[in-house]
Amino acid sequence: THVVTESCIRCKYTDCVDVCPVDCFREGPNFLTIDPDECIDCAVCIPECPVNAILPEEDVPSDQLAFIKLNADLAKNWPSITKRKAPLPDADDWKDRKDKISELIR
Ligand code: F3S
Repeated sequence: THVVTESCIRCKYTDCVDVCPVDCFREGPNFLTIDPDECIDCAVCIPECPVNAILPEEDVPSDQLAFIKLNADLAKNWPSITKRKAPLPDADDWKDRKDKISELIR
């Protein structure tokens, strides 16, 4: 599967969802996840994300391994998103910040 990692938090640019052929993105208040039961590993979403948040599972860095389970768990409860929309209003202020996991709203 592919995994949405930390840089998406508080940004949510949503460019990724328009290109997904299987509609595997799920939307939370300030983060998106990929449903691992739906993702076909096509990778077309990777270059769409302006903050490089999406990675193949095997490339998730060691300090972000928690996002693999987080994507799977949150995807169960969050609704599908298939159309791009405006990013969060202060996305550009948050796009270069690190250690944002404490900002994640479930
Ligand atoms: Fe998040 Fe990037 Fe998509 S910021 S919503 S993974 S385009």
